[in-house]
Amino acid sequence: MGSLTICDHPLIQHKLTHIRDKETNTKDFRELVDEVATLMAYEITRDIPLESVPVNTPVTEAVGKVISGRMLGLIPVLRAGLGMVDGMLKLIPAAKVGHIGLYRDPDTLIPAEYYVNLPADATQRMLIVIDPMLATGGSANAAIRTLKQRGCQQIKLMCLIAAPEGVAAVQKAHPDVDIFLAALDERLNEHGYIVPGLGDAGDRMYGTK
Ligand code: URA
Repeated sequence: MGSLTICDHPLIQHKLTHIRDKETNTKDFRELVDEVATLMAYEITRDIPLESVPVNTPVTEAVGKVISGRMLGLIPVLRAGLGMVDGMLKLIPAAKVGHIGLYRDPDTLIPAEYYVNLPADATQRMLIVIDPMLATGGSANAAIRTLKQRGCQQIKLMCLIAAPEGVAAVQKAHPDVDIFLAALDERLNEHGYIVPGLGDAGDRMYGTK
């Protein structure tokens, strides 16, 4: 089973409370999500492999560590996932960014792809799927499945807030995927919103509706 990490650093929890607040305006919402993404990036990258390299300091020859192999790939799920990309890139500027767009088929209610564009070397990178709200798990599972169908194997999932139902769905469908959250909330309501949640992440991020 993949790990479940709640990034409960006080700075993340403080900012998340302001993100949840319905009085927080679009500009502040966007900035806070960006900041939380940067802080979460620190946690998510904790186990990326390092290799030793020689380095000449002004004092002596030494051996330092650098990240081994290719940098990460960030895969935001459109559109709310976009709001966490720049915050991640502040810490991982060499990461490549792919995009997955999904819509809910009105007949089957199953998420269907309308756009997939991945880095050419995606199969050789550790990929972080970014989907701020893990509600039923339908879109996260579909995005992860899309990556696996294209041969990607090292995949992590990053969300701001999850419902227990969404976590269980991803763990069942993709037990190899580690999940990183800022908060695990109580439940889904009858409209599919996370409770207490933050409302519709995309609408709050872009000022729509
Ligand atoms: N998507 C959102 O944006 N918010 C929710 O609460 C659930 C899914």
